Amino acid sequence: MIDQKIWDFVKDKIDKNVAEIGAAYPNAAIDGIYNQGNVRDWISGFWPGILWKGYQVTEDEKFAMLAREIEANMDQKLKDTEWLDHDIGFIWSLTSVSDYKMTGNQESRRRALLAANLLMGRFNLAGNFIRAWNDRADLDTKGLVIIDSVMNMPLLFWAAEETGDPRFRHVAEAHLGTIIQTFFREDGSVAHTGIFDPETGAFIEEIGNQSFAAGSAWSRGTAWALYGFALAGRYTRRPEYIDAAKMVADFFIEQMGEETAPAWDFRAEAQYGEGRILLDTSAAAIAACGLLVFAKLTGESHYREQGEKIINNLYHHHSTKDDPTHQGMLVDATGHYPKQKNLEVSLIYGDYFFTEAVVTALFDKPLFW
Ligand code: GLY
Repeated sequence: MIDQKIWDFVKDKIDKNVAEIGAAYPNAAIDGIYNQGNVRDWISGFWPGILWKGYQVTEDEKFAMLAREIEANMDQKLKDTEWLDHDIGFIWSLTSVSDYKMTGNQESRRRALLAANLLMGRFNLAGNFIRAWNDRADLDTKGLVIIDSVMNMPLLFWAAEETGDPRFRHVAEAHLGTIIQTFFREDGSVAHTGIFDPETGAFIEEIGNQSFAAGSAWSRGTAWALYGFALAGRYTRRPEYIDAAKMVADFFIEQMGEETAPAWDFRAEAQYGEGRILLDTSAAAIAACGLLVFAKLTGESHYREQGEKIINNLYHHHSTKDDPTHQGMLVDATGHYPKQKNLEVSLIYGDYFFTEAVVTALFDKPLFW
């Protein structure tokens, strides 16, 4: 069970941050204040996503007005494909799709369909995958695929339903099939990044990237897979997606054990030996959302109990409930361990998924995905 006071905590933070953050792109909070990202960052949809969740429960117009201001400011990047990547879904599902679903805003529908077309345009026909990042000096990314991409497929599933055009769904299904074939391991863990030959489409190798190493189990990537496949199962009812979500959910639950938050990489401990393992509360919040959706999809209440347990643990052991001046909701998140960036912080996506999990658990409101 989730106590209403957890929603009161979330709502107080949103209220306070409307005044303090305004139309900006908060990223990570160190010492209680969110630093500001750039309009081009992949995280730009999460603060408006939090505002729309606030609006969904309260119908307070000030949340909708601020979310719309941010959505309009992001139009500049819809014109710049050099900056757009596989994370297009994160950005426009939580801004334009949410606005359209709740208010019928036609301008938002137009933006979301344009974003879906741009995401579909990243599809590599030879390898049946959606390309992740754009060109980088240190890495040839033309055949690069990352697990985070699965959370962007709902934009394509939504576009297929909205337009009646199955191309969007075909591309999402082809990409997800490639992910199941090449990223999934027998124990339910998943790789973070894979390289394919962009000409022939052949899989070349797994690389560790944001995880500890090839073969390890980055907890946030695990959570992206859990929630992404739960959502794909919800859109399509395809048994292979439901099986995939179940495998990863069982792995995540087993790895968490009785801990109140996961290690940033479930296999970092074995690799580091005596070293101190940082946690990642953002992974837990994403997983909680996935478990709640998966429980509803399958009718298996065990997954709902696990999702609620995570929410309660995050609130009681890893939140700023006793620090009303702190802009973040969750602490103890890890942004990018291998780059030593944003360690032991609040992350805006951790706060978004915590907000979504609480709203889903307490109010059963429609999802934006
Ligand atoms: N999608 C980037 C991350 O999870 O850090």
